[in-house]
Amino acid sequence: MDFQKVFDDHIQKFNDRVMPNRKLSRGILNSEGFAFCSISDHYGVDLIIESGVCNGGSTTILCKYFNDIPIVSIDSELKTEAVVRTSIFHNVTLINGDSHEMIPQILDAFKDSTIAVLIDGPKSINAITLGKKCFDHSHVKVIGIHDLFKSLYGKIKQDRVMFDKLDIPNRFITDNPEFVSTFKYLDGDDTGGYHPKYFTKEIGGYGPTIGFMLK
Ligand SMILES: C[S@@+](CC[C@H](N)C(=O)[O-])C[C@H]1O[C@@H](n2cnc3c(N)ncnc32)[C@H](O)[C@@H]1O
Repeated sequence: MDFQKVFDDHIQKFNDRVMPNRKLSRGILNSEGFAFCSISDHYGVDLIIESGVCNGGSTTILCKYFNDIPIVSIDSELKTEAVVRTSIFHNVTLINGDSHEMIPQILDAFKDSTIAVLIDGPKSINAITLGKKCFDHSHVKVIGIHDLFKSLYGKIKQDRVMFDKLDIPNRFITDNPEFVSTFKYLDGDDTGGYHPKYFTKEIGGYGPTIGFMLK
């Protein structure tokens, strides 16, 4: 898969529909949101499932970009802040529940859909396990798992090691150097510069990082 072409083909749409966009506390970076939206759009998905809403940062990106397809966003501790923030969007359904229970039901109920799943809670190995289960369904084309940065204070993270060893040939990870150098500007402040704080030795790369499993 020519990822650079996928990103080049969708950056204008992302800039038109999503940007400018304020990064929220505990939220994904705009560049990470862009990777998820462009790859999912490339697969022609017609349903997005999101696990982990928190303040509604990633949900907002998804609602803005996919303004013409349904988004189902689940959180086990759904916050009023997220409900209020996303109430301006007509295409999102928020569910207060555990994704381990909710996602299999949704995948069964929407067997005729082409689906992308973004997992940002549960975390770590639980996220990869849930992602793999979803990926086993033939109508799930894209899985994005957040927080797969390489290391924490110099210690290699085992979830990243597990992700890197997955027997899934078509994968992408947002700390890919070419992707970062081309799209880090999306994470910039009001002056247009990118935030150097997203490059750190502690995480061994750029930003919290989304890892993708792709059909
Ligand atoms: C880092 S926050 C999500 C941030 C959000 N994706 C964004 O970019 O703005 C993680 C969220 O995952 C939720 N969570 C953790 N485990 C979960 C589970 N098993 N099912 C659903 N939500 C879960 C937590 O309640 C928390 O609100």
